[in-house]
Amino acid sequence: MKRGLFITFEGPDGSGKSTQIQKLNTFLQEQGHDTLLTREPGGTAISEKIRGLILDPAHKEMDPMAEALLYASSRAQLVSQVIKPALEAGKTVICDRYVDSSVAYQGYGRGLGESVEIINRYAVQGIMPDLTVLLLLDPASGRKRVQQAGEMDRLEQEALEFHQRVYDGYVRLAETYPERILSFSAKGEIEAIAEAIRSRTAEALEKL
Ligand code: TYD
Repeated sequence: MKRGLFITFEGPDGSGKSTQIQKLNTFLQEQGHDTLLTREPGGTAISEKIRGLILDPAHKEMDPMAEALLYASSRAQLVSQVIKPALEAGKTVICDRYVDSSVAYQGYGRGLGESVEIINRYAVQGIMPDLTVLLLLDPASGRKRVQQAGEMDRLEQEALEFHQRVYDGYVRLAETYPERILSFSAKGEIEAIAEAIRSRTAEALEKL
């Protein structure tokens, strides 16, 4: 059995990942692909509990390294319990956020640098995405969209400077991994972005 395709979606808060994820998932299913949709932090009972811990606005004292390790811990559980078995069963896995989020938010945002990549090497057992869709949105616009959506979690409540570092981190990631990361301005036309994602996904599926 051929290993399935692994696609991740990334971007700052408010960048509209969910819309594009739904569109791609619907398209793949219509094409007869067996897909598995999951999200980070979360996706398993244990990981959802860790998610609650991390995002709780009451946990203002959380140490940045504790935060990075919790994200990695949630990820380790999701990889071994859900992502790895699904890929081995030949499914196409779409994950809302993955290691790049930790690099952008904890590595760049919190200033933890390379330690984040090292921690995550243990967490993911060598499973990295074949394709990553990055939706870039400047922090001020992102904040507006998040505020309109309702109550903000602990990460979303961070200062604009934090979100600027996250944004810069994503730009750097896209420059470092041009083969894997397909990036768009989140202000672009939704349908045009969706079409570009579909076409790149079809290409990746053929290459598997
Ligand atoms: P979520 O509500 O899933 O945000 P979104 O809908 O924007 O994806 O909350 C996840 C938050 O956690 C988001 O602010 C990004 C942050 N995050 C990290 O800081 N590091 C990580 O490794 C991951 C996966 C998420």
